[in-house]
Amino acid sequence: MELGVAVLLTLLSVDFLLKSGTGIGIDAYPNSIHSIKLHEGQPYRTSYHFQPSKNWMNDPNGPMYYKGVYHLFYQHNPFAATFGDQIVWAHSVSYDLINWIHLNNAIEPSEPYDINSCWSGSATILPGEKPVILYTGIDENKHQVQNLATPKDLSDPFLREWIKYPQNPVITPPNGVEVDNFRDPSTAWLGKDGKWRVIIGAQNGDEGKVILFQSDDFFNWTVDPNPFYATDKTGVCECPDFFPVFIHGRNGVDTSVQNPSVRHVAKISYLSRQHDYYFVGKYVDDQELFIPDTNFTGTSLDLRYDYGKFYASKTFFDHQKHRRILWGWINESDSTQDDIDKGWAGLQSIPRQVWLDETGKRLIQWPIEDVEKLRGEQISINGEKLESGSRIEVSGITASQADIEVIYEMPELENAELIDSDSVDPQLLCSQEYASSCGTIGPFGLSVLASEDLIEQTEISFHIYKAPTRYVGLMCSDQSRSSLRKDLDKTTYGAFFDIDPRLKTISLRVLIDHSIVESFGEEGRVCITSRVYPSLAIGKDAHLFVFNKGTQSISLSKLNAWSMNKAQINNEKALDCS
Ligand SMILES: *[C@@H]1O[C@H](CO)[C@@H](O)[C@H](O)[C@H]1NC(C)=O
Ligand SMILES: *[C@@H]1O[C@H](CO)[C@@H](O)[C@H](O)[C@H]1NC(C)=O
Ligand SMILES: *[C@@H]1O[C@H](CO)[C@@H](O)[C@H](O)[C@H]1NC(C)=O
Repeated sequence: MELGVAVLLTLLSVDFLLKSGTGIGIDAYPNSIHSIKLHEGQPYRTSYHFQPSKNWMNDPNGPMYYKGVYHLFYQHNPFAATFGDQIVWAHSVSYDLINWIHLNNAIEPSEPYDINSCWSGSATILPGEKPVILYTGIDENKHQVQNLATPKDLSDPFLREWIKYPQNPVITPPNGVEVDNFRDPSTAWLGKDGKWRVIIGAQNGDEGKVILFQSDDFFNWTVDPNPFYATDKTGVCECPDFFPVFIHGRNGVDTSVQNPSVRHVAKISYLSRQHDYYFVGKYVDDQELFIPDTNFTGTSLDLRYDYGKFYASKTFFDHQKHRRILWGWINESDSTQDDIDKGWAGLQSIPRQVWLDETGKRLIQWPIEDVEKLRGEQISINGEKLESGSRIEVSGITASQADIEVIYEMPELENAELIDSDSVDPQLLCSQEYASSCGTIGPFGLSVLASEDLIEQTEISFHIYKAPTRYVGLMCSDQSRSSLRKDLDKTTYGAFFDIDPRLKTISLRVLIDHSIVESFGEEGRVCITSRVYPSLAIGKDAHLFVFNKGTQSISLSKLNAWSMNKAQINNEKALDCS
């Protein structure tokens, strides 16, 4: 009986979904039986993070907004929960970046120039609202070449079918670039001279390079003789991203904009480090020159989008809501065998809006507002004092599927312990925090995905220090006690950030979704994403606590916590004929 009702609902919803065009609400998405079944015995599967129904996923590709629909393509192995040699561009669409419909694969290996995989790339929307994709093909000789694909039917807002350009490849490895390390074309931008520019990651020996190409027509590309960006001893640069940001305000701006109101950001994914680094700087377009404010140092002073797991990311300009949105791949921390047993591997982060901090020194990242639609039951705590050594449970919400915002009021900072933050590795310091356990101002924070007896818990915390010329905060995400299971990567992550002593408070936002914890410190100035696989703190047995281990008491000026509802992520085919 139940099945019959669900099928009927599903058919009605699909009909509504397909006819109603833009602005559709969550309610119209069917809650398919198929997707519920998949969740049985799947304690680590997420409820509101983007995942395919099964198998392997890595980099986000070609995100864009087209005719009222958000598109996300992604690297996917349709045949296994592990990486493979027949990687495709899988494709999903959404009206709100939260609820998704999986479509058929957009680009699959089929031609000599991509027969061994269709690797990462980007979308560019050409004048006249014409999207194009540039992607890396692994060709019959295992060389990396860049190919072009265009939609078959521009009137289909879902852009279901893509046609490969008959003269592919459009770009082959230039001199000074290894043929098997030349990949991941960026979104292109239009210069004042009317030519398109695209950058592509590469390597030559130890040297990491980003190479710039120019074109009048998007088909015929000419290499710029000087690398757009290069670093010694880093190995290959992957997934380069390059975009303008307004100097003032949170709005995003189209990738081709160049004027005095913007600065530029270059992002490189260094494979050797498995992290995404970014550089704020000045773009001198008539010389094809990017002058970053800081150089890559290979130390903890470098700016990263995220100090936990977050790689191969990509941004796009959402012209509907005037914002720039960042997607990143979050891989697993369990074993390959676990992935095979689970039947899946890989998540995408919650999409993050990015803009430049008022200091102009770093980016701010914040979960897109659309995720707040999923907020359900709410618990609030106001003005509670956290004495030294105290711990309070936050109950009444689903602690395994939650969104939490906390504002702590700090004591006078003069008493903070001294540190030379320029010569200490914050990740190492966070790993030692547990052993030494307490300081003066902090650690204080949240214990998430915790068992009742706290044998299992992941601690997100702050510790305030006095550096020679300023105050610094240390933010940690400590996974060392996140699970009784042994075969997991439980690395503790950490980062420093500057504290403005005039501000009396410090904030933390944490998104928890079964096996992922995304933390945004000090209003998105420092972000840490972790994967955790509790053995006790699963589903209803997960608990949430606030704590203060510092000797000074801290005031919890405000805490709001919400249970999160499940996002609807379904197959178009399952919708059509279930
Ligand atoms: C490609 O562009 C270059 C530089 O603009 C030009 O010299 C060349 O003739 C073009 N080739 C074709 C086949 O259009
Ligand atoms: C970065 O390195 C380049 C090349 O070595 C140098 O010219 C530039 O001054 C450096 N920039 C900074 C901010 O240190
Ligand atoms: C993927 O996860 C493994 C295990 O935690 C880690 O060693 C590796 O650096 C991660 N890679 C990326 C790209 O995040």
